[in-house]
Amino acid sequence: MHDPECAAPWTMKQQTDKPALYDELALALDALLTGETDAVANAANAAAAIYHALPSLNWAGFYFVRGQELVLGPFQGRPACVRIPFGAGVCGTAALRRQPVLVPDVAAFPGHIACDTASRSELVVPLFANGRLLGVLDLDSPELGRFDAVDQAGCEMLAGIVARHLRADVIAS
Ligand code: SME
Repeated sequence: MHDPECAAPWTMKQQTDKPALYDELALALDALLTGETDAVANAANAAAAIYHALPSLNWAGFYFVRGQELVLGPFQGRPACVRIPFGAGVCGTAALRRQPVLVPDVAAFPGHIACDTASRSELVVPLFANGRLLGVLDLDSPELGRFDAVDQAGCEMLAGIVARHLRADVIAS
């Protein structure tokens, strides 16, 4: 549980091994969100934790399901497009397929939505609660080919943790 006065600072060791970094981040994220039930607060802290823990990101955050589109949630990075229909861009494709989408080069992804012109590669993983799609976790990088299968598996683990700490009835409609 997080300290009520926020006296305990958010800390992460400097892991050089990528699987170890995800394992440590998963534990730290779960501890950060445990004990808080406010969905916006937890999504906001999760976006900040992920953005600051993973190297070479220029955007990290959430889009949540609202009917047949995704709507921007808490994030870190430059201001982003607010509404993305299912099937549009990388986020909408991941939501429609209900599967992660790993894009090594966003210029080669038809329909990619450029919110930040610095973005070169992108990873989007869906968030589920009891099989229901809540939204997606979206990570952008200014580096080509920044994300690999280890990142995808790691981010699916992180998305699972975040989804457990969001009230499905509040976050998705
Ligand atoms: N590039 C995304 C849009 C969201 S921004 O990257 C934050 C897409 O193509 O869906």
